[in-house]
Amino acid sequence: MKYGFFDDNNKEYVITTPKTPLPWINYLGCTDFFSLISNTCGGYTFYKDAKLLRMTRYRYNDTTLDTNGKYFYIKDGDTIWNPGWQPTKTPLDSYECRHGIGYSKFTGVKNDVEAALVTFVPIGDPVELTKVTLTNKGTAKKDIQLFSYVEWCLWNADDDMKNYQRNLSIGEVEVVDSTIYHKTEYRERRNHYAVYSVNAKIDGFETSRDEFRGAYNGPDKPDAVIEGKLHNTIASGWYPIASHQLNVSLAPGESKTFVFALGYVENAEDDKWEKPGIINKKKANELLAKYQTEADFDEAFEKLNAYWNDLLSKFHIESKDEHVNRMVNIWNQYQCMVTFNMSRSASYYETGIGRGMGFRDSCQDLLGFVHLIPDRARERIIDIASTQFQDGSAYHQYQPLTKKGNSDIGSGFNDDPLWLIAGTSAYIRETGDTSILKEMVPYDNDMSVATTLMEHLKRSFDYIVNHKGPHDLPLIGRADWNDCLNLNCFSEHPGESFQCFGPSEGPVAESVFIAGMFVKYGREYAALAKLMGDTAEEARVLAEVEKMTAAIEKDGWDGDWFVRAYDAYSHKVGSKECDEGQIYIEPQGMCVMAGVGIEDGNAKKALDSVKEKLDTKYGVMILQPAYTRYHLELGEITSYPPGYKENAGIFCHNNPWISIAETCIGRGDRAFEVYKKTCPSYIEDISEIHRTEPYVYSQMVAGADAKFHGEAKNSWLTGTAAWTFTNISQYILGIYPTLEGLSVNPCTPAEFGDFNVTRVYRGVTYNIQIKNPNKVQKGVASLTVDGKEVVGNIIPFDGSKKTVNVVAEMK
Ligand code: GLC
Ligand code: GLC
Repeated sequence: MKYGFFDDNNKEYVITTPKTPLPWINYLGCTDFFSLISNTCGGYTFYKDAKLLRMTRYRYNDTTLDTNGKYFYIKDGDTIWNPGWQPTKTPLDSYECRHGIGYSKFTGVKNDVEAALVTFVPIGDPVELTKVTLTNKGTAKKDIQLFSYVEWCLWNADDDMKNYQRNLSIGEVEVVDSTIYHKTEYRERRNHYAVYSVNAKIDGFETSRDEFRGAYNGPDKPDAVIEGKLHNTIASGWYPIASHQLNVSLAPGESKTFVFALGYVENAEDDKWEKPGIINKKKANELLAKYQTEADFDEAFEKLNAYWNDLLSKFHIESKDEHVNRMVNIWNQYQCMVTFNMSRSASYYETGIGRGMGFRDSCQDLLGFVHLIPDRARERIIDIASTQFQDGSAYHQYQPLTKKGNSDIGSGFNDDPLWLIAGTSAYIRETGDTSILKEMVPYDNDMSVATTLMEHLKRSFDYIVNHKGPHDLPLIGRADWNDCLNLNCFSEHPGESFQCFGPSEGPVAESVFIAGMFVKYGREYAALAKLMGDTAEEARVLAEVEKMTAAIEKDGWDGDWFVRAYDAYSHKVGSKECDEGQIYIEPQGMCVMAGVGIEDGNAKKALDSVKEKLDTKYGVMILQPAYTRYHLELGEITSYPPGYKENAGIFCHNNPWISIAETCIGRGDRAFEVYKKTCPSYIEDISEIHRTEPYVYSQMVAGADAKFHGEAKNSWLTGTAAWTFTNISQYILGIYPTLEGLSVNPCTPAEFGDFNVTRVYRGVTYNIQIKNPNKVQKGVASLTVDGKEVVGNIIPFDGSKKTVNVVAEMK
């Protein structure tokens, strides 16, 4: 069942009922100022950091889903309604929400009044703009009232939820004309405040939530709206809000438009006050002055659209498969950008008060956006590398505001260092910019011990060389990619962190997954060493890679698939010998991607085992059989009920690894089959089962053992976005950036047909036509570049050209 449809021309998903299975959200904002907005106008806003600079409140775990947002109430006689349906839930005569790229639109109609909202964050300014257009669709005059509503958060979202003894006494506001200023804590250590304004003379305002709602009412029945009159209260403590009242008369057919602006303003320390107790509003007035008219609004909206159209034009496919076209051209790239902006901080599943930026997550996200924003990717790599320790290990997370490593979680996730190589290699393959390798980059933010980035990569690689276990496989530490495989933790008491409890330096527990990574990214590091002219390092690295390959072949192979790990007792994990958890997805994907087993047929065997043991109609499960009891020696993975999360859920992130692995052995049909199973557009018509947004990937879909098999959770902020984009664009469609130039080597289903890709790469636009007359799954017979045939798969890079036309024929 669907709850809407894709409008590809407008790059929008159109939601036609407010009652989606879960809130279906969108993100507004491109750089510092962000909002989450659901299809019923729920959500919240923050500046830079969702925890420390939260502007408006959202309620977690509430009894009605998705409470609090930026609401507009309309009072029309005795009827009170919202264009986005929540919070009054008054049935609407018609409702539509269009989530677009960086904006959302809502249209609600009730009793001949149409309210149309357009909301977005303009490029370059810390402000959310909402245009509200009210139209009288009937034949009689309408006298209605429009009320805006936001509830302020007292900045630190964590403290705001907990510290009532203080917080209920500190709320402060000012009101001048049509602008409400939220200035809690500005009197002391903050030099920022928030504003909510409208470009028209108002007929009243409210800043006290109790006055607006009545202390015992919910947001669905605000007293003041029912009464039709705001009381112009200046809040003092308790719960400050901002609400404007506009009395609007509309002749039949008439429309009136208002522009609302919710902004963030920062003043210099010595320029905070206009006079004692009165905030300096100069910068606020300058900001608001930019968006006073509908024309200002429309112009900023055009700029936003131009910005996104430019970004999304960097990779564009035309094929006969509409799902692939829309995911690749619009939604998958968009989601990659959102993961760049948000990391794992703020979604409807990540509260914005918990996790910092993950070392491994950020490096992987980069794989999905490096072609869109290479400069910012470069900056991100330096930020990440700056939190590395001198021995090559890394803080598992860092804080976006300070860019410092997070010592609560510390280090010891032994896959982390290798992801830095993955990210840096992707950046250089994309841009050709080797100057990044010569940048001086600190360790643990200490510039006095800085070395080149290349040296950081060496230490990343050597960390694994120097931390091997009894089978010459890499030690796992606290966990590897699978955060829940905690082989050195042995946690027995609730409340302990599964990952941080126990020693990280278990001398025995090993990971075959890290071994696969080491082979794959070790080779990429060797290629960088060669590129930089260091052939001795290249040779050393390749020798280590050979040793690791041999170790995988010897002790990492279980007969029909790759072993997952060895635990602290040196018992196999993910082997036929185990009673539960006999086969895991991760080493099958990673080892084959690294090329292990391709020659001797083990890769094919492993992938066949994946199909036989882990496949479901909703995607490939992470392991089987699910763990039914808690295994102290395995950790958090066995804490989840069977079928959920890392315990036999369909962890979407590593489905593309299997798909990529299938392309490595040339099986385009199967690679695409795996791609389709979790592809949002392909499963739009089971939205009642899948439940999360049909335009973005989720982290997890419940596996076959779960009660709600097929139900997704944790949408938006997941490495799935980057990896699925890498899979479809670089492996299935086969446009892969190498150090020498773009390589063209598709691996598609036999029936996929011809397709064209436009790819902007190192400033050159490539128009690539791929023809598959004989319906093969892999193999390029001829490659013609600007009319000349070239040998091999790589288009030689020529920066002097603006456009290059390529024809590839598959054989
Ligand atoms: C979460 C984490 C990611 C980890 C994965 C598997 O998605 O963000 O770092 O690899 O879970 O445990
Ligand atoms: C939990 C989750 C895992 C996530 C981790 C982040 O372990 O199961 O998916 O990566 O938390 O800390």
